[in-house]
Amino acid sequence: MAVLLNIPVLSMLLLLFTTSIPKAQSTVVDVVAKYGAKADEKTDLSTPLLNAWKEACASTTPSKIVIPKGTYRLSRASLDGPCKSAIELQVSGIIKAPADPSAFKDPNWVVFNHVDHLTISGGGVFDGQGAAVWGKNNCAKNKYCAALPINLRFNYVSNAIVQGITTKDSKQFHVNVLGCRNFTFQHFTVSAPENSINTDGIHIGRSNGVKVLDTNIKTGDDCVSLGDGSKNVIVERVTCGPGHGISVGSLGKFNDEEPVSGIFVRNCTLSNTMNGVRVKTWPDSHPGSATDMHFEDIILNNVGNPILIDQEYCPWNLCNLKVPSRIKLSNISFKKIRGTSSTQQAVRLVCSRGLPCDRVELADIDITYKGPGGPATSECTNVKPRTSGKQNPPACSSPAKRTGA
Ligand SMILES: *[C@@H]1O[C@H](CO)[C@@H](O)[C@H](O)[C@H]1NC(C)=O
Ligand SMILES: *[C@@H]1O[C@H](CO)[C@@H](O)[C@H](O)[C@H]1NC(C)=O
Ligand SMILES: *[C@@H]1O[C@H](CO)[C@@H](O)[C@H](O)[C@H]1NC(C)=O
Repeated sequence: MAVLLNIPVLSMLLLLFTTSIPKAQSTVVDVVAKYGAKADEKTDLSTPLLNAWKEACASTTPSKIVIPKGTYRLSRASLDGPCKSAIELQVSGIIKAPADPSAFKDPNWVVFNHVDHLTISGGGVFDGQGAAVWGKNNCAKNKYCAALPINLRFNYVSNAIVQGITTKDSKQFHVNVLGCRNFTFQHFTVSAPENSINTDGIHIGRSNGVKVLDTNIKTGDDCVSLGDGSKNVIVERVTCGPGHGISVGSLGKFNDEEPVSGIFVRNCTLSNTMNGVRVKTWPDSHPGSATDMHFEDIILNNVGNPILIDQEYCPWNLCNLKVPSRIKLSNISFKKIRGTSSTQQAVRLVCSRGLPCDRVELADIDITYKGPGGPATSECTNVKPRTSGKQNPPACSSPAKRTGA
């Protein structure tokens, strides 16, 4: 009896005890309450955000910067580490960039430099307001495109998570990841129309251990592009479209490029994209390599060039096709790739005449094409893929359309 009576008392005591234990208190810095930010779309968020960042970055315990709901204007922000402890940036508001590109002196809008243990959360939006510049681009002829600001840049950021955030209508790439380690995007959204030129969703380069998970990308260029030095990258449960697909490269254009290795693209769905999964390298390139790249469980809905290795990548004819690519490609697999193609050439593996591809595998391919010219085709040049399972179209059945000579 005594024991029974004591249970509620005991649990009361326990409750009191546990609630009175101080939690590892994190510093919370609200840009509106503390630093005078205004969600009026006029007042520049730049100074309040920078002041909040300085306070958070100097904190020796984990801290959180809060940008509450509302719409803000932000001219630009460079949020620099190293910081004394972990930082979370909780963005619940909509942050808009100046629409006029002349407001930017360099291709940056929001930049994170040298931060360890960064979290970005809150369901908010970074809106680059790029619509006015897309029509004016002539990326082939001048440097206009490269000079436009990128919505979010992460330079040398490690142990980071970016979740539940949207990047919208960037003037250039939406996200650029450079020199990062252990970096995860989860439930991330990229949103821009099909006609937004050069607006790659997430571009990754010279980084190790980047994951892009459960992410929805609609944009006018590659949904995810993996540049030189991308290592151990996982792209999983990503939907892409409109967009130009998921790609490795282009590689070989510049001197001193780092090798690419360990790329896993799994369980992704591409819809109405210009390309599916591809690896592209420039002809007459600098030497380099890309190995261990695996594409598996990919669903295609009306996708152009669904499976593509293109070692004669030469947009705007700005290269010399007579000299083969010097990028060595090896250990590449395309498995369980199925759906519909919008181009007759569904599988196109064009490897370098100088350095044929090694250990390429096609397994369980089922791609249909219902346009003029007959069923889907598959072309292989300077590569002899290992095949298994279903092969629709029959592997390497069509003659090469272009020789590169
Ligand atoms: C990777 O980063 C996450 C997020 O900061 C962290 O929880 C995890 O421990 C890190 N992993 C490694 C291996 O450091
Ligand atoms: C894709 O997702 C399905 C269902 O969750 C799972 O069974 C399969 O293993 C996944 N494929 C890969 C390559 O991870
Ligand atoms: C191919 O890549 C996979 C994944 O990185 C790796 O486990 C495997 O050892 C590689 N195969 C060869 C022959 O290098």
